[in-house]
Amino acid sequence: MVNKITSLAEYLQKYQESVADPEGFWEKIAESHYWHKKWDKVLDWYFEGENAPNVNWFVNAKVNITENIFERNMFMRKDQVALIWEPNDPEEKEIKLTYGELFEKVKQFANALLKIGIKKGDRVAIYLPMVPELTIAMLACARIGAIHSIVFAGFSATALADRVNDATCNIIITSDGAHRGTKTIPLKAVVDEAVAKCPSVDYTVVLNRTGEAVDMVEGRDFWWHDFIKGVGTENKAEVMDAEDILFILYTSGSTGKPKGVVHSTGGYMVYAEYTFKNVFQYSDGDIYWCTADIGWVTGHSYIVYGPLLTGATSVMFEGVPTWPDAGRFWQVVDKYKVNQFYTAPTAIRALLAQGNEWVTKYDLSSLKVLGTVGEPINEEAWRWYHDLVGKGRCPIVDTWWQTETGGIMITPLAGITPTKPSLATLPLPGIQPILVDPEGNELKGNSQEGILCIKYPWPGMLRTTYGDHKRCYQTYFSTYRGLYLTGDGAKRDEEGYYRIIGRIDDVINVSGHRIGTAEVEDAINQHPKVNESAVVGYPHDIKGSGIYAYVICEDLSDTEMETIEEEIRDTVSKFIGPIAKPDKIQIVNGLPKTRSGKIMRRILRKIGEGDATNLGDTSTLLDPGVVEEIISGAKVSVKR
Ligand code: PRX
Repeated sequence: MVNKITSLAEYLQKYQESVADPEGFWEKIAESHYWHKKWDKVLDWYFEGENAPNVNWFVNAKVNITENIFERNMFMRKDQVALIWEPNDPEEKEIKLTYGELFEKVKQFANALLKIGIKKGDRVAIYLPMVPELTIAMLACARIGAIHSIVFAGFSATALADRVNDATCNIIITSDGAHRGTKTIPLKAVVDEAVAKCPSVDYTVVLNRTGEAVDMVEGRDFWWHDFIKGVGTENKAEVMDAEDILFILYTSGSTGKPKGVVHSTGGYMVYAEYTFKNVFQYSDGDIYWCTADIGWVTGHSYIVYGPLLTGATSVMFEGVPTWPDAGRFWQVVDKYKVNQFYTAPTAIRALLAQGNEWVTKYDLSSLKVLGTVGEPINEEAWRWYHDLVGKGRCPIVDTWWQTETGGIMITPLAGITPTKPSLATLPLPGIQPILVDPEGNELKGNSQEGILCIKYPWPGMLRTTYGDHKRCYQTYFSTYRGLYLTGDGAKRDEEGYYRIIGRIDDVINVSGHRIGTAEVEDAINQHPKVNESAVVGYPHDIKGSGIYAYVICEDLSDTEMETIEEEIRDTVSKFIGPIAKPDKIQIVNGLPKTRSGKIMRRILRKIGEGDATNLGDTSTLLDPGVVEEIISGAKVSVKR
């Protein structure tokens, strides 16, 4: 397979090459893609200066990413399965779509979008469960040059509306409902509530998935099957500039509302394919399964774009790991003879807690590679995954990356890089990580711990934050001039291997989902009885981090006191979604603040961790008594 590294020596050599001559390195890789017109220059960039960051890969090149998935692969793979869809209910029949079949569906949906006037550059919101139509819709957008903005179907109407409005989407593609385990979630009803607050939305397209009753507005809402009825499949791909936007994906940061991370076409395409085939060491004919939801970046890059560009067979799963029982993942691995399996540490920890027999009852001998993503994996989970699931013979790729990076950055190459439990190991070729101290001084050499930054552009990196380029600079490039700030702390060990410690900002990784504390506070503060709140993360056995909210309320009656915590959780669910519900809520009379009014979260974090004996310097607090009160007065409500 072209551009696939096959040995450690080759990796080391490629890494050296990629640092010595990044442009030359990526140029060679990009040669294997299909371009309408090649670049005038490989890279144009600065992280600092007027209108920074400015990152242009494959300058003036013309391309369409779907031609690289379909036309480029069609000769070899027309009848090869591209997508295997495993439904929520194991009794329901799976769907397998070959490259040829998927292509027809993508072109047809692309034509249907064109027919109602969606065109290059328009923003299309997609709010769908994990069904094949989600992949079809996103690729249809890419086909016509419309920008997809996929919103995870667990977000609330308010969160959806915020994202749709920020990107002024013209259309939302959704379904009547979603199946998740035993639950049916009414997605169209959520969309209806959102659309009422979204003046830019002219249309919705509604897939019939669950069959429940929905309200359809004449002229605005179309059933998916009516929308494509009689629409042909002849379609010529829109020719895109390499730097035209491919998609927007919203993600949380330490401040303000979620940002629309913008990825452009050419660089993302090259990076998604290169990282996929190298990290997972995918070989022709392998069956690859990433359990993520396409609503997150992992699904974008490693269910859809990376695998399909490579010509892989990619499994897409609608359900949850624990339904009908805790053996579901392994049953599906056995059913399709999955070779590469990629999931989140949270899922591993949750399944580990259910006992080994769920794993041992299935034949997992097809597995060759195991992957993790989204949060640090603790050693116990790593060993269980390695020893029990992989029977000690499958390398684990602990892949570190972010929505902003577009693809995997620091990771072992499966079976090539020697691994150590809980370490993401080494950067991929083309990636130049550095550790800095809080003042921004580079910490050179091995055995260092600091703030992880990247000092040179890579093709998959974000280009801007939608509609607010200054915010992109402010968030990622202003703290340490000339460096991309990841927001993570990391250690480099004596061998130069990286261990990711976790976020250094006010972002919490809950079950591998990124949640901004400020967003949760804003949601909590919407409750009419809440005056103020402060949210921190605390260590959680399964989720990695849990959400701990300290809340100041107006005077509450005894009956109000009994229900306030549940009401707060419901409020968060309403404004963000169930994933952001606080695990612990403590009603307090005051918060530890400095004289300038800043909440000292460091102290709240310590209390949340159960380590109140070592609070450090509290002398700058306006009222040190507040801390004692929080520690002793604790009435903590724990989510069931
Ligand atoms: O803190 C890091 C953590 O997830 C953050 C990025 O979250 P998101 O943009 O939602 O993307 C998640 C999937 C790529 C990072 O800043 N993270 C991601 N992978 C790892 C990780 N932490 C430790 N180890 C990892 N392998």
